[in-house]
Amino acid sequence: MVRSHVAFGGNKFIFVGYDQPWDFKQGSQAFSRKLEGQCEFMHFKTDTEFFKWSQKENLKNYAIEINEQAAVLSKTNFESNCNLIVGSEKHGLPKEFVEHCDQVVVIPQFGNVACLNVSVSASIAMYEFKRDQEMSLEITDSKFEIEKV
Ligand SMILES: C[S@@+](CC[C@H](N)C(=O)[O-])C[C@H]1O[C@@H](n2cnc3c(N)ncnc32)[C@H](O)[C@@H]1O
Repeated sequence: MVRSHVAFGGNKFIFVGYDQPWDFKQGSQAFSRKLEGQCEFMHFKTDTEFFKWSQKENLKNYAIEINEQAAVLSKTNFESNCNLIVGSEKHGLPKEFVEHCDQVVVIPQFGNVACLNVSVSASIAMYEFKRDQEMSLEITDSKFEIEKV
């Protein structure tokens, strides 16, 4: 998720509901390619603290989750000032948390699988959120040379 967050030009990376924010030890750094150094992390121990902060910042909260009230991702017009929120790999987003969000967004699935992996879901949502914005191919730190368009 950190890699995608950096790739898609994310702003703050927020953890909610844990005593401590994620500790990037060697194992997770291998996955993130140490890109956590480029992220601005925030951490809220409780849902209440998080929602209070997002209200103060005037941010719209989109729960990326599977439920009956969800709108389909491709039909969602995201507001630019927003949080894209995914649940834990094990438990998903708590029902009460989702109820506090402004909108629920589902990524359609076509095969017989209960749900997607959380980082895959977050990455798809981030891509879709950025899709309408002008594409920049300023790929840095890459072994591929891509001509600017
Ligand atoms: C592995 S899933 C959680 C599964 C959990 N065991 C459950 O039953 O809810 C982790 C997270 O990925 C996201 N997710 C997975 N598939 C999704 C989909 N098709 N649409 C939207 N979000 C999805 C949600 O945020 C979810 O909380």
